[in-house]
Amino acid sequence: MPVTALVSAKSSGVTTAALALTLASQRASLLAECDPAGGTIRAGFLKSSVTAGYGLYHLAAAERIGTEALANAFASHLWPMDEAGHRKLLPGLTDPTQAASLSRTWPALSEVMHVLAADAGHDVFIDTGRLAFESGRLHAVLTPAPLVQQADLVLLTVRGTEQSLTLARHVIEPLRTELDERGAGADALGLLLIEDGPYRAHQVAEALKTPVLAALPWDPETAAYLTGGGRPPRGYGRSPLLRHARTAAEQLEAASSRRRIQQQYPVRPANPQLAGVLQRLTETARGGPRG
Ligand SMILES: Nc1ncnc2c1ncn2[C@@H]1O[C@H](COP(=O)(O)OP(=O)(O)OP(=O)(O)O)[C@@H](O)[C@H]1O
Ligand SMILES: [Mg+2]
Repeated sequence: MPVTALVSAKSSGVTTAALALTLASQRASLLAECDPAGGTIRAGFLKSSVTAGYGLYHLAAAERIGTEALANAFASHLWPMDEAGHRKLLPGLTDPTQAASLSRTWPALSEVMHVLAADAGHDVFIDTGRLAFESGRLHAVLTPAPLVQQADLVLLTVRGTEQSLTLARHVIEPLRTELDERGAGADALGLLLIEDGPYRAHQVAEALKTPVLAALPWDPETAAYLTGGGRPPRGYGRSPLLRHARTAAEQLEAASSRRRIQQQYPVRPANPQLAGVLQRLTETARGGPRG
């Protein structure tokens, strides 16, 4: 299954889309909240049920010990978002000042997520937040650059508005160059359209010279629930956002396998040090989080 990184030029619905895709996926799925500006799901959708003792920040210390320690910490910091534990969240940073300590953690964390996707069949969605460039390269602290570079798909999330397209135009070329020169290739890049505003998918694709890989409807009621938590709105499971997210997750999987076939990817070598992560994840799904 693919590792998909969702980015934006400016707040356009990345977190909401990542959450909708993770919850709607037909497979086991993970949402890793890796926005260096801080996570919002802990205080929002999960209504503070997850303490600061859980989440991304704690993985930096584990990575300093070694890959196996990171894999184990990763498994024990996932929060189940359903009873069966098939949908998991790696809660994000509680404070943006924590981001600098993660800079050296991203490459190993990326590898763990790829193992989870390739060997354990998870749909992995990473909220990588807003793009920030410095001298034409992804900023080392303000973005989790290695996660974006190594993702199977990089989805630039845009709304169908003039403002969103203008902002996206400024970042799309540097992003393409980044993926070509330091990442998985510019063909990993696609658009996720949030259907707000007058522009339709073909116009957005044309304007940004990039394919729209999936689209999600404008659905304020469901989005407000995914952003703020509380009681789910009536018919939430059949809401436009969740229904389209289910289709979108399938379209992304198809786009990623097309790309895999075209590129004739070599199979990623299995890393025996990471094998333990799969077992720990099964345990987490059965027993729920500890602590
Ligand atoms: N599909 C949608 N339909 C209606 N409202 C939406 C949709 N997606 C997002 N929103 C709303 O837009 C606002 C911003 O969404 P969200 O927090 O997901 O954006 P973001 O790109 O993650 O922003 P940031 O960069 O600040 O983290 C929220 O109020 C959310 O409820
Ligand atoms: Mg966000």
